Amino acid sequence: MLSIPRLEIQDFPVAQTYRQDVVTGLSSIPKFLQPKYFYDETGSRLFEAICELPEYYPTRTEALILQTAAVPIFQTTGPCELVELGSGSATKTTYLLDALVQLQYPLVYVPVDVSPTILQSSAERLLADYPQLIVRGVVADYEGVWARLPRFESRRLLVFLGSTLGNFSQAECETFLAKIADSLQPQDYFLLGVDLRKAVPLLEAAYNDSQGVTAAFNLNLLARLNRDFDGNFDLTQFEHWAFYNKQLHQIEMHLRSLCPQSVYLSKLDLTVEFAAGETIHTESSRKFDLTELGGLLTELGLPTVKVWQDPQGWFGLLLCRRT
Ligand code: AVJ
Repeated sequence: MLSIPRLEIQDFPVAQTYRQDVVTGLSSIPKFLQPKYFYDETGSRLFEAICELPEYYPTRTEALILQTAAVPIFQTTGPCELVELGSGSATKTTYLLDALVQLQYPLVYVPVDVSPTILQSSAERLLADYPQLIVRGVVADYEGVWARLPRFESRRLLVFLGSTLGNFSQAECETFLAKIADSLQPQDYFLLGVDLRKAVPLLEAAYNDSQGVTAAFNLNLLARLNRDFDGNFDLTQFEHWAFYNKQLHQIEMHLRSLCPQSVYLSKLDLTVEFAAGETIHTESSRKFDLTELGGLLTELGLPTVKVWQDPQGWFGLLLCRRT
């Protein structure tokens, strides 16, 4: 008897702009680096550790909401394939898969991630836990993936969790959501998890944890540049700095130079001068207003059909339907 393989992973070309991005960012005023470069092996491990920190409420809050929302979500959508952008370790995905099992719907999971190793290992774990599951993974970044995502079921639920949307500026966010709307067919659904505006001390504590894991995550970016470009960043001469920018409703993470210093990245033949106190902006993490975000989604053809929140109103999960 012929059987369908339960796991296939497809490689989409990922734009090779790392070198140019680093040169551009470190030559700009003010200096910046894109947060997607945090996630080398160490960075991905540190991010998993961040998700378990007592101060970092988003992961566990979103997981709690998903537990309640998963069955109602699929009761709304009906049977559909599950496509997840930035699937990572796919820990929260199990709540959605459990709901599909409970409703006796087919289990087709299309994880999309930039890391082939994480994609492979998380897919293998899920296949062992869900005997009916079929995984069709795609290695791609968010830019490359849109037009060509293969479709396996007539209806799709595209999920984008963890408030990763918060890494985009307002303008980038609009472009990104427009592309999502574009990639979906009428009657498809979009599930979006976003961190919400709240008291500043809670926000700032989540990015300044007492164990220093977030600081290590931020500083690891310099270790990565040293390794990849044969650089000489002295990690003891930079410090982690995170604060809430009230005007832009975003946490900003920076690496701050503790003294005047000059850094050389030999494989880029790039010298970077730092004044004392000068920073590299490494991440923005925007915090959302549900009404505002819902308005934007509606304009883009993705009106919200249902919203879930935790009892404290810290995190939001929006189910939108492509018109
Ligand atoms: C994965 C982008 C949602 O912004 O909260 C956590 C990354 N950075 N701690 C976030 C992050 C520092 C995280 N996102």
